[in-house]
Amino acid sequence: ISGNIVEISKEELAKHNLVEDAWTCIRGKVYNISPYMDFHPGGAEELMRAAGKDGTNLFNEFHQWVNIDSLLDKCFIGKLKMDSVPGS
Ligand code: HEM
Repeated sequence: ISGNIVEISKEELAKHNLVEDAWTCIRGKVYNISPYMDFHPGGAEELMRAAGKDGTNLFNEFHQWVNIDSLLDKCFIGKLKMDSVPGS
């Protein structure tokens, strides 16, 4: 990664909750999951449960071992603003 890392607020994240415009946050990192919809082995419907919100718990619940950085590398948008990460 080069240059500045974009910071995304919880409010901004929440706006992207449609299949064709879906973002989620996993472990503090925000990804555009729309391009992955048709490829998710668990289906688009499951993936959409994390759209517009923090999907870390759901992600960990089903497949903590999945390497999200290698799969969604090109879908990385930025980091969730620290003060909006739940529980921190
Ligand atoms: C399966 C990736 C999010 C639910 C899988 C598998 C991958 C994957 C690689 C196959 C795992 C295997 O073969 O053992 C991802 C990525 C996500 C994501 C990159 C990034 C956001 C989610 C979310 C949920 C979910 C948020 C639930 C709300 C599932 C389920 C399966 C699955 C239920 C099992 C499908 C089956 O074996 O029948 N996912 N996933 N995933 N995922 Fe996800």
